[in-house]
Amino acid sequence: MCGIVGYTGPKEAYPIVITGLKRLEYRGYDSTGVALLNNGLKVYKKKGRVADLEESILGKDLHAHTGIGHTRWATHGEPSDTNAHPHVSTSGKLAMIHNGIIENYAQLKKELTNKGYTFKSETDTEVLLNFIEEIRKNNQCDLEEAVRVALKRVSGAYVILLVDEDNPDTIIAARKGSPLVIGVGKGEHFLGSDASPMLEYTKEVVYVNDYELAIVRPDELILKNLGNEKITPFVTKLDMELAAIEKGGYDHFMLKEIFEQPSTIHDCLRGRLDALAGTITMSGVENNIEHFKKAPRIIIIACGTSWHAGLVAEYIIEELCRIPVEVEYASEFRYRNPVINKGDIIIAISQSGETADTLVAIEKAKEQGAIIFGIVNVVGSSIARLSNGGAYTHAGMEIGVASTKAFTGQLAVLTMVALKIAREKGTISEERYRNLLLELQDVPEKVEALLKNADEIRLIAEKYKDAKDALFLGRGYNFPIALEGALKLKEISYIHAEGYPAAEMKHGPIALVDENLPVVFVATKDSYHEKIVSNIQEIKARKGMVIAIATEGDETIPGLADDVFFVPPADEIIAPMLSCIPLQLLSYYMGVAKGVDVDKPRNLAKSVTVE
Ligand code: F6R
Repeated sequence: MCGIVGYTGPKEAYPIVITGLKRLEYRGYDSTGVALLNNGLKVYKKKGRVADLEESILGKDLHAHTGIGHTRWATHGEPSDTNAHPHVSTSGKLAMIHNGIIENYAQLKKELTNKGYTFKSETDTEVLLNFIEEIRKNNQCDLEEAVRVALKRVSGAYVILLVDEDNPDTIIAARKGSPLVIGVGKGEHFLGSDASPMLEYTKEVVYVNDYELAIVRPDELILKNLGNEKITPFVTKLDMELAAIEKGGYDHFMLKEIFEQPSTIHDCLRGRLDALAGTITMSGVENNIEHFKKAPRIIIIACGTSWHAGLVAEYIIEELCRIPVEVEYASEFRYRNPVINKGDIIIAISQSGETADTLVAIEKAKEQGAIIFGIVNVVGSSIARLSNGGAYTHAGMEIGVASTKAFTGQLAVLTMVALKIAREKGTISEERYRNLLLELQDVPEKVEALLKNADEIRLIAEKYKDAKDALFLGRGYNFPIALEGALKLKEISYIHAEGYPAAEMKHGPIALVDENLPVVFVATKDSYHEKIVSNIQEIKARKGMVIAIATEGDETIPGLADDVFFVPPADEIIAPMLSCIPLQLLSYYMGVAKGVDVDKPRNLAKSVTVE
């Protein structure tokens, strides 16, 4: 959460910083601010979106060759002009932006208050900044040394960018637990929470590691550890184009990303799945195949939508590989005292690869000797680097706050992983294996076909947009899809929604059913079909309104449901990759119909880098 940008070089810094902030706004949009160095330090900040700041400083002197900028997701202190970053130190010489949480800030604040410091904001960032300034004054050292000393006292997560009006061409940056990318140009450097602010300027980037400090000048990038030893920056080539972060004619990123799924799923399968040859090539699995074959248990850890992908995988892996699977919320797992036995494999699933709870849960499992297999979308992200092996989902940059294409990418990867292990273990027949490979290969085409009918979902969404609540029900492989449908609806349309296993409905939720409650059934043709048809009848008998996601050719459900959306036929293991898509569309169109900013729904941020 929170986006940070920086630039130092011959170009004008402000346009680069402000454009970068717009691209990073998905990380938080409570307030925005910039610090520019030109004949002194100039700081402009404001509650609200980047556009609000831009408008409020029209006409000001924004000329500078070094600048930093921040878009905030509030943690300490409400969204306000005062709590917005950058913060300025007591001397007025230093300005700092921060992404993360300084957990021991109260202790540091007390120490500083005892020395006479006062604070304008309620933020942990202002405390850390003055702590750095105090060390510089007290130890008579340079800023770089003061940052190093200060960070050794800090617990929590941070990326900080710090500028000093006495050194106007230098940005000092440091990271622990939150992402930091440095773009290397010719006589210039760019800094960002991800690479999007620098895409049109350079393809050469350095991913800064935890406990590293960067001293960044136009023609110099010095990387050091907190022990003041130099580290050679490892420059990697970016594989991303500007088009990936533009809306490409769609009204919203979320809609664009939903419609990208035929190609993102195809990209995920490409080079891995060869249905004709009957092979799946995944080096991450191959390198760990003996561990997978012998694994007494697989524990999947993730949050939110990624956790739902994990639940689908639980059904698939247990069915195909006969390995017991547990799916854990990372946020719970990290604070429990979980039993991890020798040989257990942890599969960590994350779109961003930066989710704080998932990261810490992995670290904890690693300490106990578990092997970590990461399924991540963002290349080079922290979770990808922390894993012993893994597979990227290759869904491309996901900007809409609600996860859509990353989810189907996760399902595609998890299905391939399960098929590969099952084949190696001999727990799947050759015929079923081959059939599932063919089915997987057909998914992009089927997704494309069902997206052609997106307008039908728009009409359904408009019909039900005034509902106060909604229930999502599914069985088996479609139960996690019901959970996912409910989550999407909540976050994008602010309609209260609950997901349940359809059979569980009788144990409580059925009390909610009346003529005003839309009940969404994920009821594609599978081994539970007759059972879910009975559940639909039970809702209809109580006058509930039924919206069903059914398989083309189903003759029973249209006679029962008020509204039906059909998806192409598929094996029940593959069906979730299809049945989730109308639910993504349903939440999108309901959100739009209700006037919600669907790409940036309230209180949320794309990358949850605080716990
Ligand atoms: C929901 C959503 C979130 C994320 C969750 C985990 O649409 O996007 O629930 O799935 O915050 O994020 P990652 O996958 O980045 O670890």
